[in-house]
Parts: sequence; C-alpha cells; structure tokens
Amino acid sequence: MPKLIVVTREGEEREIDGDAGLSVMEVIRDAGIDEMLALCGGCCSCATCHIHVDPAFVAALPAMSEDENDLLDSSGDRDDTSRLACQIPFSANLDGLKVTIAAED
Ligand code: FES
Repeated sequence: MPKLIVVTREGEEREIDGDAGLSVMEVIRDAGIDEMLALCGGCCSCATCHIHVDPAFVAALPAMSEDENDLLDSSGDRDDTSRLACQIPFSANLDGLKVTIAAED
C-alpha cells in the first residue's frame, strides 16, 4: 500500500498506509486526523481540506481545476504548494507523498 506522510498543525509527523483510489483527504480523514474538517465531503466547495504539498511532488499531481484555484484564493495561508486534498486521487505513484495540513482560516 502506498504511504502518505502527514504533518499536523502541531508539527507531528504521521505515516499512513493509504488505499490507492481514495482521495488524499479521505486517506487523512480515515486515519482519524480530525483537524482535517473536509466539511463538504470532497465536493470542492469548502476549502477545509487545504494542505501544503512537499515541493518535490507538486509536479506529479493532477492539474488544478478553476474551482479549486478559486477556493484556495479564499485562504489566507495559500502559497505555491497549496492544494485541496479532496482533489488529489491517492495512487501508487504518490507513494511517500508528504503533505502538511494548512493553517485554519
Ligand atoms: S473537502 Fe471541501 S473542498 Fe475538499
């Protein structure tokens, strides 16, 4: 199973086995990391699944949709590594992906 490394807002690093086919948001939520609110359930309408992606993986991710881009603009913590975790399908070629949960808006 591919591994996902998650850094929480407190700086704690957790390594999770993630099911390929779930979104990165679902992998994080299913691991019981409840600071990822994911209020809209993955519909790309809340931005509470905002993460920062390790720059080494940014190019391997699917392109950002206009909706995701617009939602991220509403976050004060946006930077070049920002993505919405519900919009990234987890897969074997993202094994070792490291993400940091963004600050709460
Ligand atoms: S869970 Fe709402 S935008 Fe990702």
